[in-house]
Amino acid sequence: MLTLAFDVYGTLIDTRGVVSQLQDMIGPQAETFSRCWRDKQLEYSFRRGLMQDYKPFSDCTRDALQYTDSLLKTGLTQAQQTQLMQAYTRLPAFADAVPALTALQAAGHHLYAFSNGQAEAVTALLQQAGIRSYFEAVISVDTVRSFKPSPDVYQHFLHSAHSHRQHTWLISGNPFDITGARHAGWHAAWIQRDPALPFDPWEQQPDLILPGLEALADHLPRT
Ligand code: LAC
Repeated sequence: MLTLAFDVYGTLIDTRGVVSQLQDMIGPQAETFSRCWRDKQLEYSFRRGLMQDYKPFSDCTRDALQYTDSLLKTGLTQAQQTQLMQAYTRLPAFADAVPALTALQAAGHHLYAFSNGQAEAVTALLQQAGIRSYFEAVISVDTVRSFKPSPDVYQHFLHSAHSHRQHTWLISGNPFDITGARHAGWHAAWIQRDPALPFDPWEQQPDLILPGLEALADHLPRT
């Protein structure tokens, strides 16, 4: 049986879930805002990782929200920013998450959530989205105070899950996470949530590319 490490934001959980709330606040800029917020959040995590100046992922999210508001001149009030940060803790699961996790669990694989988010926050997020019970544990980068794609965080996962890289697959919608896991010697399946986005032309490529989580159980190697 395989150990499957599921990325959370952008793989199991839809970060675009804030768009409807944003639409009520800023109208047609909502889509652009949501994309910029997410990109900046990740950029801040990369930069903090490189600078070795760790702060929890929720700080990256909050700082990125403030930056995006300044960039797009949307003039969000403090109360609106607080509301959006709260909405980020209640993001929905993608519709394919439950059927895929059910099938993978039935096939006997060991399922873990593996995220930049702090364990407590991710646990609560998965719980409210109705998918926490599928996972043996929530493993967070917070323990090693760095972010994906630092090799340290993939090593930390293997150690925590008592798994070997040869039997470990990262399942992620985020290309930078896939290259990080492949670099660390894992297998990886890229869930291409946006068909318009190509994969980075790096030496680390995914073992599998799927448009969603549905068919994952059928495509993983039998052990
Ligand atoms: C996570 C980020 C990468 O859940 O979205 O780890």
